[in-house]
Amino acid sequence: MAKQIMFTTAVFAIFVQLASSCCGPAQWEGYEGVFAGVQVNGTGGEGKGLLNISVDANINKVAIKGYSMWNGQRVKQHLLNDYSAGKSYTAYDGKCSTADLPPYPSPGKLNCVPSDAKLVLSTYYGAGDNKYEIDVYEFMVDGKKMELSVNKGSCVPVGEHQQLTNGFADVGFMGITEGIKDPSVFDIPPECNNARTVSPVSKNLIYVHYV
Ligand SMILES: *[C@@H]1O[C@H](CO)[C@@H](O)[C@H](O)[C@H]1NC(C)=O
Ligand SMILES: *[C@@H]1O[C@H](CO)[C@@H](O)[C@H](O)[C@H]1NC(C)=O
Repeated sequence: MAKQIMFTTAVFAIFVQLASSCCGPAQWEGYEGVFAGVQVNGTGGEGKGLLNISVDANINKVAIKGYSMWNGQRVKQHLLNDYSAGKSYTAYDGKCSTADLPPYPSPGKLNCVPSDAKLVLSTYYGAGDNKYEIDVYEFMVDGKKMELSVNKGSCVPVGEHQQLTNGFADVGFMGITEGIKDPSVFDIPPECNNARTVSPVSKNLIYVHYV
């Protein structure tokens, strides 16, 4: 009887692995174009930007750095998500805020589509011989819906549409290269090294989260 249960468990584990086999490169860098709309105290706000993003699934870190426009104002920002430590550091306009990070991915790895994701659409960009095929997956992150588009086959991320607590974010990934040129991109933002600068979490800053 015990043997039978073990066998069943093993078969289940194999199915889980098969279902989560859509994995992109473990380390990659590129640009992310972001457009976000959020409500802050009942007033609509708009954020957009083209930022640098680095992802390392081996050490479970995502770094995003660059400038974005918030309601027409240019703001310098630097985000580090450390999923192993469950911590997020955001330097926004020179001020640091930290937050606890919900475990991601659950279940799965940072560079893989979660095994419980639903494939909702297989389609393509371009036309004819210049088609770029994509798969669109849907899953929940911290109770909010995420749609993630990846290149069919290679599973390199193409874009995502993310529900936020108080709005939404659309993200497109471009210029992706494999590997990490400079590991120091995953250093904690310098603004966050001084504990005195830590301010309370600001919910309207979360639109730059990759996955
Ligand atoms: C939102 O309202 C609260 C309470 O009135 C206030 O403390 C906070 O500064 C406001 N935030 C923004 C971004 O206006
Ligand atoms: C973004 O990446 C480009 C190309 O690697 C680099 O020249 C630029 O300095 C980076 N910007 C920031 C804010 O890190």
